[in-house]
Amino acid sequence: MNFLNIEEAISTLKKGELVAIPTETVYGLAAFVFDESAVKKIFSLKNRPFFDPLIVHVESFQKINEVARHVPNALQILAEQFWPGPLTFVLPKKPEVSDIVTSGLETVAVRCPKHAIALKIIGQVGPLAAPSANQFKKTSPTTAQHVDAEFKNTKLPIVDGGPCEVGVESTVLGCIENSNSITIELYRPGAVTEQQIRDCLNKTAGLNKTAKEIKFVRKQNAASPGQLEHHYMPSIPVVVVQDEEQFEKQSANIKEKLKVNPLDFVDLKLDKNPVFAARELYSKLRECANSNKGYIRVFAKAIERDGMGEAIWDRISRSATLNYSR
Ligand code: TXA
Ligand code: MG
Repeated sequence: MNFLNIEEAISTLKKGELVAIPTETVYGLAAFVFDESAVKKIFSLKNRPFFDPLIVHVESFQKINEVARHVPNALQILAEQFWPGPLTFVLPKKPEVSDIVTSGLETVAVRCPKHAIALKIIGQVGPLAAPSANQFKKTSPTTAQHVDAEFKNTKLPIVDGGPCEVGVESTVLGCIENSNSITIELYRPGAVTEQQIRDCLNKTAGLNKTAKEIKFVRKQNAASPGQLEHHYMPSIPVVVVQDEEQFEKQSANIKEKLKVNPLDFVDLKLDKNPVFAARELYSKLRECANSNKGYIRVFAKAIERDGMGEAIWDRISRSATLNYSR
């Protein structure tokens, strides 16, 4: 274990090294965004392919202009309500932001995290590129201990900020605004929900008497290169079935495909309230993976799909090796 205090983390980042830092969503593996060789270390430590762009974390809305050229009006309105918080904007990038950060895209993803430690570090170092602090495609970390287990033997410096309050990654969105409509492009569902975004934009439009049609387009499997079909996977397989009845019908298939005893499973059990379910999701997946069972069984029927449930369902379905519920 290599736990650092805030001052040590600041000087380590300034020297061009990586530090895992807490945010309200998940722990991030951070590098100073304008130090290209530090940013490259993120990709090699995570085994992350260069086609998967990073999110840049800024101290405040005012600092967005250090990395982005322009912010559509609708996103400014959303930032007023949700920043600091779990909402990431895809914006036209400044030339100073390296192609390594954005995977050669003309856009950069930016967010302001709601975590006192993260904000203090960013305030002293400058904008930080930080993906979730896990190996590529694996389960994201929501405690410092998760990060430590993920990067055992690497002496990765970690700042322990306790368990993450939100528990799933930020909502990622872009925006196309014209004279009579606002199109929100949703790249990744997260803690800020479609309804909250609509309510916020509608309320402001009402106040300004400038009502525009608000359209929502889901781009989860396109255009956002990190949104792979398989992601967030624990160290043992996840099998999603609708319910007990479907499980019984599929058990021969499970046996054949995974080469396991179909009864050698542990159930993923989450809180009924999606806010608590999100908070405990990755810890529970890790606990299940450490159970010495053959696989993790998830009942799709038990997972709430509305509101924040959309993010939970997105992560569970991407973590699945087999999904019979579709
Ligand atoms: O909550 C979070 O967002 C966490 C914490 C650490 O802030 N970070 C995080 O980063 O989840 P990461 O790298 O695991 O996920 C970044 C996501 C990927 O799905 C990637 O495709 C998308 O953001 N992304 C990044 N830049 C993009 C861009 N220019 N256009 C579209 N999608 C982008
Ligand atoms: Mg990630």
